[in-house]
Amino acid sequence: MTPSTSTFTARLAQAAGVVEAGLEALLSDKARHGEIARPPRLMAAMRHAALGGGKRLRPFLTLEAARLLGHDGEGAVRAGCAVELLHCYSLVHDDLPSMDDDDLRRGRPTVHRAFDEATAILAGDALQTLAFEVLADPATDPDAGIRSDLVLGLARAAGLGGMVGGQLLDLSAEGRYGPADLSEADVRLLQMMKTGAILAFSVEAGAILGRADAPARAGLMEYGRALGAAFQVADDILDRESSAEALGKRTGKDLEKGKATLVDLLGMDGARRECRRLVEKAQGALDGFGPQGEVLRDAVRFVVERQV
Ligand code: IPE
Ligand code: IPE
Ligand code: MG
Ligand code: MG
Ligand code: MG
Repeated sequence: MTPSTSTFTARLAQAAGVVEAGLEALLSDKARHGEIARPPRLMAAMRHAALGGGKRLRPFLTLEAARLLGHDGEGAVRAGCAVELLHCYSLVHDDLPSMDDDDLRRGRPTVHRAFDEATAILAGDALQTLAFEVLADPATDPDAGIRSDLVLGLARAAGLGGMVGGQLLDLSAEGRYGPADLSEADVRLLQMMKTGAILAFSVEAGAILGRADAPARAGLMEYGRALGAAFQVADDILDRESSAEALGKRTGKDLEKGKATLVDLLGMDGARRECRRLVEKAQGALDGFGPQGEVLRDAVRFVVERQV
């Protein structure tokens, strides 16, 4: 292991630790300011979804982008918790019987299997609203303009023109709503929306908190978009090549459902070449940060070389 990859591994573990402590506090039994009560069954389902597993890559990106800009405070941990809560909600809904119908997530039963479908839908809803509450809370940043930029950015990344829109396109790519005759450009667009938007926002949140100037922000945004694209190509490769034991979720499902992916359209070698191209693009976008950008450069290599 080179010195820089060991720094990356240590930083990812450190981010996971602080974010898990933050999530644990946000999902405690006690009702928080402005809440009436926390129904125990809903709390248990939300905790099942958000605690115990996951790479915590999105909050890591928020923390490291902020750190690159000299912002090292509690606000970045809170913003990281918010993107992870949003991500966990997306996984709960993605696994539902009406969506991907999966029984295994992060090596454990999915929320609708451990509880029931209605509870899973509500747990996802409440994880999502909690994410926005965390960003809007003055504890995240004293400047209301910064908090508003965070809320706006997450709403745009998560909604109609981002993740949720991408999920609809993804279901269409299985041929549910008519013939699924997708071009490479169609697949890239759906992946940019369903996966790329939240990953890119995870980086952008760090840029917002760190008061990035225009060139720094542009570099980080380009990095986030290329990393997001690489992430989904890697997910599609793992779906084809890995196992449920290794990955903690069912594999082979894209092929089974006839879903259009870049692995289909470019072949396995082509998909791997595409990953390498995106790694170079993401790493190149950080040139302006010099050696300080090394941890984020390693992160994109991790994204395509990961086995989980
Ligand atoms: C899985 O995301 C869902 C996709 C966007 C492809 P991750 O691979 O980051 O899942 P966790 O958070 O580590 O479980
Ligand atoms: C899920 O994509 C993307 C979101 C949850 C937004 P997939 O359906 O490919 O993710 P996995 O493979 O179930 O983790
Ligand atoms: Mg899906
Ligand atoms: Mg899925
Ligand atoms: Mg997948």
